[in-house]
Amino acid sequence: MDDRLDRSRIPRHIGIIMDGNGRWANARGFERTVGHAAGEQSIFETIDDCLELGVEWLTVYAFSTENWNRSAEEVDFLMAFNESLLVRHRDSVGEKGVRLHFIGLSEDERVPVRVSERMAESERLTAGNTNMHVVFAFNYGGRAEIAEATRRIAERAAAGTLDPASVTQETVADHLYLPDMPEPELIIRTSGEQRLSNFLLWQSAYSELVFTPVLWPDFDQAALIDCLVEYQSRDRRFGTARDISAEDASH
Ligand code: IPE
Ligand code: IPE
Ligand code: MG
Repeated sequence: MDDRLDRSRIPRHIGIIMDGNGRWANARGFERTVGHAAGEQSIFETIDDCLELGVEWLTVYAFSTENWNRSAEEVDFLMAFNESLLVRHRDSVGEKGVRLHFIGLSEDERVPVRVSERMAESERLTAGNTNMHVVFAFNYGGRAEIAEATRRIAERAAAGTLDPASVTQETVADHLYLPDMPEPELIIRTSGEQRLSNFLLWQSAYSELVFTPVLWPDFDQAALIDCLVEYQSRDRRFGTARDISAEDASH
């Protein structure tokens, strides 16, 4: 793929904040929604690239708990668009051995029932796949995820099935949406913005953050490789005084 890339140090889990669709469209004189449609191919090309690279988990931020604050027209478009995108792609990604997951507030009356049904079906249909996990963060917010975990821990404590004194970081991690999902070693954000915007707040504690000016509809294999090369140049210390990236041959 690229000489600069060390194939033995590909992250197990990559998170992507897919940003810049509106600006991509506006720069061409189109409505913002045209940019969302143009970003579709970037999602599925990135899934193919990650399969080829041996990435085990890919999480893409598709709709945040704050994105409800956009115009009704854009929100309605995004709901219908995400539903149709699933219907059109789930069989082909399923055939590639991809298992689909969805994280976010699913029991939210603002999410059309049709969309929740398509998400549940897509999870069911691909549940036996093992080549790669693709997680759509939809109606997702990191704070909402931590709040939900906290509520469920409190409920167990109130029911007497969990001793409050036994609650540790692991207890919280075990109550997140996908307890088996490893933390992302790398989080990429497109479009030049340098913030997390409520993405994977708990899981990103030690993620490497790579920001690229490329707008999401223009994100391609070359852009992904540039981000991976940047990731591989980082010293991941985890609070220690040494560079452990050279020793950690696998990630
Ligand atoms: C990202 O692109 C897609 C979603 C948030 C759904 P934006 O729609 O945020 O595009 P910009 O940031 O306005 O250019
Ligand atoms: C983050 O992008 C959410 C998604 C990519 C789905 P936004 O465009 O909504 O974030 P802000 O508003 O620039 O922080
Ligand atoms: Mg944006």
